[in-house]
Amino acid sequence: MVVLVRADLNVPLEGARVADDARIRASLPTLQLLLDEGAREVRVCSHLGRPKTEEDRAKYSIEPVRARLRDLLPDERITVLENTRFNPGETKNDVGFARELADGCDLYVDDAFGSAHRAHSSTEAVAHLLPAYAGLLLLAELEHLGRLLGDVDRPFVIVAGGAKVEDKVGVLQNLGSRADRVLIGGKMAEDVRAANPFTFDALLPRDIVAAASFDAEAETRIAPYDEPPEGWLGLDIGPESREEFAAAIRAAKTIFWNGPMGVFEWPRFAEGTFAVARAVAECDGFTVVGGGDSVRAVHEAGVADHLSWISTGGGASLELLEGKELPGVAAIPEA
Ligand code: 3PG
Ligand code: MG
Repeated sequence: MVVLVRADLNVPLEGARVADDARIRASLPTLQLLLDEGAREVRVCSHLGRPKTEEDRAKYSIEPVRARLRDLLPDERITVLENTRFNPGETKNDVGFARELADGCDLYVDDAFGSAHRAHSSTEAVAHLLPAYAGLLLLAELEHLGRLLGDVDRPFVIVAGGAKVEDKVGVLQNLGSRADRVLIGGKMAEDVRAANPFTFDALLPRDIVAAASFDAEAETRIAPYDEPPEGWLGLDIGPESREEFAAAIRAAKTIFWNGPMGVFEWPRFAEGTFAVARAVAECDGFTVVGGGDSVRAVHEAGVADHLSWISTGGGASLELLEGKELPGVAAIPEA
């Protein structure tokens, strides 16, 4: 039997290096199960990044992911297809591309919880072409995140940040009223400050770490959020905001955190994100972190063992929390 597995192997990269392999590791139990059950081939596919141009092809080649997966699970029966988004049909949920993916396969297993909010060929259309099942990770995510959908212990605090602002503002608008507090940092805070789209009161940073340029070694200065030095950029939340955010997080009984507070990949702008990570770890309620970058931050801060659930989904978990039906889940009869 040849099984097509859609995993979410959209991991953060640093050049051609996998900067955090949490999503690859999270995909292993389903792959191992299929191997144990005697699959002749397990054909894994995933998108990687958001390639737009021809030049992006080198940057977003699946090769580093393939190599890492091979290290973690050396079995010749596992093959990894090239980045699904290299085919322009993928994001259009094109059936022609879905047929290419399904070609030669007997079964489709969707384990890509992190991409379940996307109706794309590899997450949606293909599920109608083969007998389709949910993978172990997808099921575990639905079970754990489901706890946030019911009656949660309060205060329920949502912490949001990161760069994919357009994707998340609408979701937060719907979610904000379910939470007792919404803390916003990172790029998202800048956008919200400029034109607040929310009908609830979000807690925004008071101060920032301002940088003279977008550079890991840039000259820095702590500045009030409203008055960054002319032409400087806010690349992290400042010390006062860290304390204020951390206090709100520690006092929570339920937490959902998605998105870093700044450019934490650069050590000098990591402190805000790490302060949030540590505070979430110190909170004794039900604590959930989701999204590729936030999960990386949790690992780098060394607090992964102190959280209730580390979700592989960022946008997907936000949309699930909003109460939306996720297309990648809806397409699987028994998920
Ligand atoms: C994610 O990292 O949020 C998922 O892999 C989906 O990626 P996307 O936001 O580029 O669709
Ligand atoms: Mg996303």
